[in-house]
Amino acid sequence: MSDWRVPGFTSTGSKRPDALFGPAGGEAVTGVPTRMTRAAGCRVWDAEGREYVDYVMALGAVALGYGHPEVNRAAERAIAAGVAGPLPPLLEEQLADALAMRIPWLEQMRFLKTGAEAVAAAVRLARVATGRERVLGCGYHGWLDWSQGGEGIPAATRALYGEIPFNDVDGTRRLIREAGDRLAVVVVEPVVVIEPTREWLELLRAETTRVGAVLVFDEIKTAFRLAIGGAAERYGVRPDLAVLGKAMANGFPLALVGGRADLMAGVARTWISSTLATESVALAAAQATLEVFAHEDVCGHLHRMGTRLLHGLHRLHHKHGDVVTGVGGIAEMCFLHFASEDMSRNVARGCAARGLLFKRTAYNFVSMAHEEVTVDRTLDILDEVLGAADEHA
Ligand SMILES: Cc1ncc(COP(=O)(O)O)c(C=O)c1O
Repeated sequence: MSDWRVPGFTSTGSKRPDALFGPAGGEAVTGVPTRMTRAAGCRVWDAEGREYVDYVMALGAVALGYGHPEVNRAAERAIAAGVAGPLPPLLEEQLADALAMRIPWLEQMRFLKTGAEAVAAAVRLARVATGRERVLGCGYHGWLDWSQGGEGIPAATRALYGEIPFNDVDGTRRLIREAGDRLAVVVVEPVVVIEPTREWLELLRAETTRVGAVLVFDEIKTAFRLAIGGAAERYGVRPDLAVLGKAMANGFPLALVGGRADLMAGVARTWISSTLATESVALAAAQATLEVFAHEDVCGHLHRMGTRLLHGLHRLHHKHGDVVTGVGGIAEMCFLHFASEDMSRNVARGCAARGLLFKRTAYNFVSMAHEEVTVDRTLDILDEVLGAADEHA
């Protein structure tokens, strides 16, 4: 039996010490923060009381900063009002209305608790609408059966899923045409390591329409970050359905599937429902988050801070070429490519020892709480740590 009551150390895979800091090689994990007690703004305190500046930002689920006061106040009001009850809360329809006003291609929407559930709902709705079964995907869409391989996934389910190559126009066109009238849906993450080309996005739009398949943008990471309406808003390409989550409720558990009303009408022909999808704390948190985004230029700030960080990372790449082989991502979500797994491990650990949580893989996220001085100090720490890694390279 493992030492932990929660097998695998934690229920969120990307927060495992070996995911964040590299495998410990069979030894006990030491010298790195493994569990936290508190977070505020862009700072986190571990179980030993040490303080860190953070770029993991709850795996992109927080864009306003941890414990944002307006979001917390809204959540506290929802707690005081009873959290959940026998009827759907008024707040559900109000939030849907506010989101549809701001993101017009969300004509209708359903709320769920996790990104994985919401993408699965989008795929189900596409299958209902088309009467077809095949799915093409690109990127990560959560842990549920329809997009996963490996043990525990029925071969028949796996056989219905294929992957399309990001930004590869010819490869994508070929796969969509091959699937043809068996294709229910194409689900893509609009940013995978690099920015999408306009040509690829337009091809996705044109080819799915051509074969009668549904186009879904999985905007779990990109909505409320690149723009409120995510990549669809930034790049001006309209999906049929979109899936939003993570930063939408600034760390409270909420996701949604939404889009064309004729596709959303499919909910009457299948079963998509969850007991706590309508609990009001996360709905209230999302309503408050949307209000902050409406009144403050959150995406502008993320872009400015992210650009400052990204430019700095490029400079570090040129200075420490033996350790860093490239820079991935875009301003709002970025990371360094390392020469080896060992180096990425040493750098992540070196940063943590200096009070910085900086992911060694995709992605690091800035928030409203990251200021220019925070980013500049981060780049200085990275420079120091990379310099030390360089000496051992
Ligand atoms: C693009 C994308 N889709 C879906 C998911 C799954 O979301 P969740 O972990 O909330 O189920 C993630 C999570 O990282 C994601 O990044």
